[in-house]
Amino acid sequence: MPRHFITGAEPSPDELRALLDRALALKQAPFASNALARRTVALIFQKPSTRTRVSFEVGIVELGGHPVVLRTEDLQLSRGETIRDTALVLSRHVAAIGIRTGPDELVRELAEHATVPVINMLTVGHHPCQALADLLTLREAFGRLEGLTLAYVGDGNNVARSLAIVGALAGVKVRVASPPGFALEPVAGAHLSTDPAEAVAGADAVYADVWVSMGDDEATADERRAALAAYRIDDDLLDLAASHAIALHCLPAHAGEEITAEVLYGARQRIWDQAENRRHAQKALLEFLLRAP
Ligand code: CP
Ligand code: NVA
Repeated sequence: MPRHFITGAEPSPDELRALLDRALALKQAPFASNALARRTVALIFQKPSTRTRVSFEVGIVELGGHPVVLRTEDLQLSRGETIRDTALVLSRHVAAIGIRTGPDELVRELAEHATVPVINMLTVGHHPCQALADLLTLREAFGRLEGLTLAYVGDGNNVARSLAIVGALAGVKVRVASPPGFALEPVAGAHLSTDPAEAVAGADAVYADVWVSMGDDEATADERRAALAAYRIDDDLLDLAASHAIALHCLPAHAGEEITAEVLYGARQRIWDQAENRRHAQKALLEFLLRAP
């Protein structure tokens, strides 16, 4: 049975620690691994992407492999071929399959039928590859993860959920502050509230994501922005965190909405390191999944 990475809860805490150690090593020596020599990884994109696509494509090449990017319209999937048949055929050709899509159920079905590892590159419910890079960024900033506090402020969405799940695995205390109607469901270990100031108080990292995600109804976008207006990360909110606190954002950002330009480009952010760390974390993830029995 292949190992998959669907919600981010799949590795053990020890495996996650080793994976992040390996990501740090690969960041220092990007061409040190040939884990994918002469092998191919399929990357299915049913939604737009800048970071995920580029970091996976480049990372696979750095591992000696070859990425095949498949947009929805390139696949017979768009003409009614089943996800089961797609999984069976791709598994005969490639070493692993990454997929970015809407429904979590579709990724679970792909993994059920694939005989190679499946990686969730973002669904409505989860964004575990992002959370891996976020943990790597925290490790770099603080030299450890256990006992750190990360405050996520905003919509209780895929990014919030993955931070809560993967953060708990790493011993990071995740607080999520969202307005009524936008709350994350309870996740073991995560502290949920409606108060951004309470969530951020004394935190080591403060995290923002967009107020309108891919797949959210554009017709209600203005209502979402109004409901989330008090959940913006600005310098005043950041001042409530620990004096050494860093600001994080998975990107793409909307400066002036969920984060101010002052924070996004300021001295306290590690956001652009975070974007780079996608590549290093995912290379370690690919090595881990392909090595697993
Ligand atoms: N953070 C992230 O996943 O970015 P993309 O949507 O550009 O891949
Ligand atoms: N929550 C956002 C994350 C983008 C990387 C979305 O799903 O669109």
